[in-house]
Amino acid sequence: MVDLEKIKQEFLAKLHALNKEADILNLKSEYVGKTGVVSELLKSLKDMNPEERKAFGPKANELKDYIQDQASIQLSKIEVEEINKKLAEDRIDTTLTDNIQVKTLKSGGFHPRTLIQQEIEDIFLSMGFDVLDGPHIEDEFHNFEALNIPADHPARDMQDTFWFHDPHKPEDKDSSGKKRLLRTHTSNIQARAMLTRKPPFRFIAPGVVFRSERTDASHEMVFTQLEGMMVGKDISVANLIYFMRTILKEIFKKDVEVRLRPGFFPFVEPGFELDIRCLICSGTGCSVCKQIGWVELLPCGMVHPNVLRAGGIDPDEYNGFAFGLGLDRLVMMRYGIDDIRHLQSGDLRFNSQFKLF
Ligand code: PHE
Repeated sequence: MVDLEKIKQEFLAKLHALNKEADILNLKSEYVGKTGVVSELLKSLKDMNPEERKAFGPKANELKDYIQDQASIQLSKIEVEEINKKLAEDRIDTTLTDNIQVKTLKSGGFHPRTLIQQEIEDIFLSMGFDVLDGPHIEDEFHNFEALNIPADHPARDMQDTFWFHDPHKPEDKDSSGKKRLLRTHTSNIQARAMLTRKPPFRFIAPGVVFRSERTDASHEMVFTQLEGMMVGKDISVANLIYFMRTILKEIFKKDVEVRLRPGFFPFVEPGFELDIRCLICSGTGCSVCKQIGWVELLPCGMVHPNVLRAGGIDPDEYNGFAFGLGLDRLVMMRYGIDDIRHLQSGDLRFNSQFKLF
């Protein structure tokens, strides 16, 4: 007589050693599949005599059911184990802020120049100025000639220019006969705006400018200016000074000490340099103010008649003022940054620490 109990124990021992679904299904079919051990026993019932069959049949059937049940129990057990394991691995502790499970989100910040530029734009917009833009790649007419700086004028040497063509080779001119360059100042937008606007008008134009210069704590090859121009009837130096003072007061939220010196720019007459007391060293001298205690911030003046003429405006009828605010220097003064090169560094640790006052 076959020992059913032995078969059962053997099956259980093998089953409990398995933890993969496929293995359990294989084992199950080894016993109760078509040609499985228990199935073969059941097939052999027909060859037994009636007493044997009566004694053995129900037990063999019972074993078959038992094996099927045990296999199912083991299958659901490993399924539950797998789910629990996954849950434990995927668990997120929302109270933790900085570990491998929860990546901390770094909050971004505006570049300090963007902050100041937006603030200045708002102030000028509230005073009736438009905000204009202009090309970085410029021709020599809009960057120089229209601004009363003809070819070979020594004033061209005031601004070291990045030329796209060699200015000394006549064959290097572009199709319209003008040489191309990277604009050396935002004053090119003065030249362009006058040709498309009828006075009276007033605008500002912030933007990046380029000069082939050696860099140091207060000089960069790529820096930012904010041009301003107001053209109308009977505009005076007093109007110019009023707007300059207003803007500086708004930006620094206090009266800053300023001084006005004569300054030469071919496109203004008279021309001025407006300096502010260095806010990095409070005037005692540092690398930003080159030990002078004052920082050149705002070159400005009354628009030269030749410039108005080049812009199609009659200088006998209209006049105006223009200024070219050094935006980077202003940013440095306001936030106490002691080296202009930080502004262009692209270092996020630098960029993300600034807020509006
Ligand atoms: N464009 C001049 C510069 O870059 C600045 C300036 C602008 C001076 C407007 C006077 C008037 O040096």
